[in-house]
Formats: sequence, structure tokens, C-alpha cells
Amino acid sequence: MPATAREVIVGGLRIVSRFIKAQPWAFALAVTGATLFSAAIIASSMVIGWITDTAILPVLTEDVAASDRIPAIVLAVAAIAVWKAAAIVLRRTSAGWLQFRNQQELRGQLVGHQLDLELAWFGRQSIGDLLSIADNDTQRSTMVLAPLPFATGVSLLIIGTVVLLALLDPWLGLVALGGMALIVWIEARAAMSLYPSWEGIQTQLGVVAGVAHESFDGALTIKALGREDHETERLRIESDELRDRAIYVGVRWETYRTIIVTLIPAVSLIVLWVGAARVDDGAITAGDIVTSLYLLALLSFPIQLIAFVLFDLAVTIPSWKRVASVLDADELVEYGGVVADPESGAASVDSNQVEFGYALDEMVLSGVVVDVAAGRTVAIVGPTGSGKTTLTLLMARLWDPGTGRILIDGRDVRDFARYELSREVAHVAQTAFLFDDSALGNITMGIDLPLARVHDAASLAGAHEFIEELPEGYDTRLGERGASLSGGQRQRIALARALVRDPRVLIMDDATSAVDPSVEAEILRRLRSAELPSTILIVAYRPSSIRLADEVIFVDEGRVIAQGDHTSLLESQPGYSKLVQAYEHEAAARAGGGS
Ligand SMILES: Nc1ncnc2c1ncn2[C@@H]1O[C@H](COP(=O)(O)OP(=O)(O)OP(=O)(O)O)[C@@H](O)[C@H]1O
Ligand SMILES: [Mg+2]
Repeated sequence: MPATAREVIVGGLRIVSRFIKAQPWAFALAVTGATLFSAAIIASSMVIGWITDTAILPVLTEDVAASDRIPAIVLAVAAIAVWKAAAIVLRRTSAGWLQFRNQQELRGQLVGHQLDLELAWFGRQSIGDLLSIADNDTQRSTMVLAPLPFATGVSLLIIGTVVLLALLDPWLGLVALGGMALIVWIEARAAMSLYPSWEGIQTQLGVVAGVAHESFDGALTIKALGREDHETERLRIESDELRDRAIYVGVRWETYRTIIVTLIPAVSLIVLWVGAARVDDGAITAGDIVTSLYLLALLSFPIQLIAFVLFDLAVTIPSWKRVASVLDADELVEYGGVVADPESGAASVDSNQVEFGYALDEMVLSGVVVDVAAGRTVAIVGPTGSGKTTLTLLMARLWDPGTGRILIDGRDVRDFARYELSREVAHVAQTAFLFDDSALGNITMGIDLPLARVHDAASLAGAHEFIEELPEGYDTRLGERGASLSGGQRQRIALARALVRDPRVLIMDDATSAVDPSVEAEILRRLRSAELPSTILIVAYRPSSIRLADEVIFVDEGRVIAQGDHTSLLESQPGYSKLVQAYEHEAAARAGGGS
């Protein structure tokens, strides 16, 4: 068996059984509905015969009044119709449940699992592609569940029909069996030959979603630089590719379908031909041939249904593979058992000989040693790209060091249980991310907090006043990514979000860069005078902010060059004094330009 055939059949069965196991009752009920439907079809053919013999013929030939027979006919037809309708409702509802419940659970699992993964994993993914997996691939990987119960139910019809034919005449049975086997074989081949193309289509869908997502995300930049045509062209190239692939699959599939649809009456013709010869031999009667042809006609639909299932399997498997590539990602963050102690005030932050690189072969931090006593306010200062953000990310355990340890109050950050470290350490990032929620929702992020505490945190962050002035105050929705706010306002809400949690360690990575220098200095002064129960680490550029700190960690080229108070570092570290002078010149130039 070629690899693809094995993949389609074995792989398909494995996926399908996983989904059936998740919703066994829905599957059982749907198959029951399909079986009842098959039985109703057979019963209806019998009822037609019964009506012909007991009602129609006597009325036509024996002068019986039609009105005498009508109630019986109506009752019989109605009974069959209700039976069929009930079977259809049972099958469709249960199959829908089977499909959509699985789809919903799969989406939940995907999102849950993704959030368990390390940031390194996210760094390697395209957001558009991940969206396409969560949406399109979860839909397509459960697609086969719609026709599956029906196909399972009606396959009984196929078996029954072939057995009935064989009982009529073994030769007719053999011809029918051979014909059906040939058609199913062609259907299986069709599914297998289309399978790689579907793999290409799903991948390409992810590429198109990736480009589209980037275009929407970067709309401002694209418009500002007048590159709309270039973006449209980029998307056009990828969607043309997708269209070509889809057309190729469509044409191939319809070709196979035409072959299948033509072969079904061809089998009937052969049965007729063999049957005629058997009548000549005196083995069967002409009536037997009519019965055989009727039975074969009944088979036409189930045979096509099997084709649909096989075709859907060819779509399901590549989509499932993409879903599984996320579900199987095992770069899970490992947690220990340490529980947070948010009550005991500011915590110390230490590290010993930390080495770290985003990629294995490229060190970003090496030999990093910091020693920050509890309750201190420390500025992290260094040239751009020197590793300041990276250091803060390690302290909040958003990445893990390759070697060395980061200690909060003497406890390795890796030893904290899940969700516990974030109760002690709050990290405010360089770019503030706000959700499409109210100002209040963005600050509390789902934690039930007294309103007074939220107001205090917002006041400290310099956000309370402008939030109050928003149309609906704290209940004003801020739009996706906080689109309705200025950069500085977004940053202050992000800071309030960290402060409201009363962290023992507050890390601000250039978190007030978009705020006016005087407002920034005011916020920092307020943070200091509030005597927060926090150790504060600030990645700072402005001399006014640096001067507010108790001490400075000077970082350059991924190393902590020195740690000490501002004045002594200015004397002992030429690199540091040069950098601070440059900042001062810049600040002075800006102040001059503004006056
Ligand atoms: N996600 C990442 N993947 C790979 N390399 C990265 C990643 N983030 C940062 N780097 C690299 O790590 C180095 C340190 O970056 P980092 O962001 O820590 O610098 P920084 O001191 O905060 O700079 P800035 O002052 O510009 O914010 C840089 O060389 C950067 O190119
Ligand atoms: Mg940075």
C-alpha cells in the first residue's frame, strides 16, 4: 500500500475514532437514525407493493369503492413519512452534535494548549497561520463527522442488498459485489490522489491568512508609506496560488465523481446482461431481474455517500495534522510547587551567572549577576540592544535562562507553581497591550477587586484623571489594542494594571516612554513616595528618571558592567557617563526645541 493510502485509511480511522470516543452517544444516536432511515426506505418499497396489491388493484379491477381504501393508504404513507422524518431529525441532530461539539472542544484544547507553551514557540509561529488552524483547520478536521454516521448506517443497506442478490442468484450477487468493489476502490483512489493536494490547500490557506493578518495589523504603516498596491499584490499572489490549488482539486474530484456516477448504471447494465443469460438458462425468472435492478438502484445513494466520506477524510487528515502540530508541541513551561506570598512586602531580586540566548547559537546575556535588595528602586540602564528587556523578561520568567538562576526572595523563579509568580512579580512591557474591554476590565483583567483599589492604582499610574474624563469613565470600552487611547494613556493603564496587583517586585521596561518627561518623573516620584511594598526595577533612558533611582544596573553587550549608585557609576564607569551625557544632551535639545 502506498504511504498515502495507509495514511488516509489508518490515519483517518484514528482521527475518526478519537472524535467518536469524545462523543460516543451522539455517534450511536446518529447511526441509529441512519439505520432507521435505511429501514424506512426498505419499508416504503414494501408498503408501495402492499398498497398496489391491496388497495390500488382491487379498486381498478374489482369495482371496490376507492373511499373504502383511502384511510388505510393515508395511514400507511403517513406512518412511513413520520418514521423517515423522525429518523432524519435524529441522525442530523446527533451528527451535528457530534461534529460541532468536537469542533468546539478542539478549539478549546488548542487555545488552552497554546497558552501553556513557552514564548519561544510563539516566536516561531505566524499569527495568521495559528488563526487559520484554530478556525479553518478545526472545522475541516471534523468535516468527515457529518456524513460518517449516515454512511455507517447505510452500509448495512449495501450488505443487505448484496446478500439478497446472492440469495436470488449467486452469479448476480457476484457481479453486483464485483461492481460495488470496483466503485469503492475508485473512490478510495480518488481520495488518496486528492489528499496531498488538500495538504497543500490547507497550508496555503494558512499562508494567505498570515499575509492578510499582517496587512491588517500593519495598515497604518502601509497607508503611511503608500504601499497599499504592494500589499494587495502580495495577497493576490498567495490567493491566486490558493485558487489554483482549489480548482485543481475541484476538477479532479468532479472527474472522479462523473466516473463513479457513470459506473453505477453500468453495473446495473451488466447485471441485466448476466441476468438475461441466466433467464435463458432457466436459473431465474424475469421478475428476479426486476427485483435485482430495484435493489441496485437503492444502492446508488449509499455508494456515493461512501465517496463523500472518503473525500472528506482526504480533507480531514491534512487539517488534523495541522491541528495536531499545535496540540503535540511539547515546549511546555514547567512549574514547581512554591506558592506566592504577596503579603510580606517587597522582595529581593538576585541572579547568579545567568546565560541566555533566544537562539541556541547566539548569546544575548552572559555572566549576568544582579543583586537587588528588597524595597530598592533600581534603574536598568544600557545602550539599545544591550539586553535590558531580555533581563526583565527573565526576572518575570517570561523566558528561562540557559544556565544560572533568577531568585525572588531567595526562591528560584522556576520553582513557583503556575500563576503564583505573577502574583509576586508584575512586568510592564515596553509596548502596552490593551484588550478590547473597558478601562476597568483592562486594569483588573478579570480579578474581582474593590473599586477604590483600582482608583488608587490608576491615580498612582497617572491614569485616574483621564479615565474619569472618558465618555463612560471606567466603563468606557477602549477598542482593540486600546485603539481609542494615545500611546501614553495606554502605557499608564498598563502600569495601573500592574500596580493594582500590589506586586512584591514591579518591573517597568521603559513603560512610560510615551509619557511626557515631566509626567513620567511625576509618576516615578509618586511611586517612590507611596512607599509601595515593592522592589521597583525600571528600564530608564531619561536622566531625570535615572536620578530618582536608589541605584543603577549598567548593562552593555549582554553583561552587567556595574551596579551602584548613579554618582559613583558616573565616576567609575566611562561607558556609563558617556551614555548618560548623551541622554542629557538629547533631553536638553528636546527641551530647547520645545521652548
Ligand atoms: N525574541 C527575540 N528573538 C531573538 N532575538 C531577540 C529577541 N528579542 C531580542 N533579541 C535580541 O536580543 C538582544 C537584546 O535585546 P533586548 O530587547 O533585550 O535589548 P534592549 O536592551 O531592551 O534594547 P532597547 O533599548 O532597544 O529596548 C538584541 O540583540 C536583540 O536583537
Ligand atoms: Mg528593550
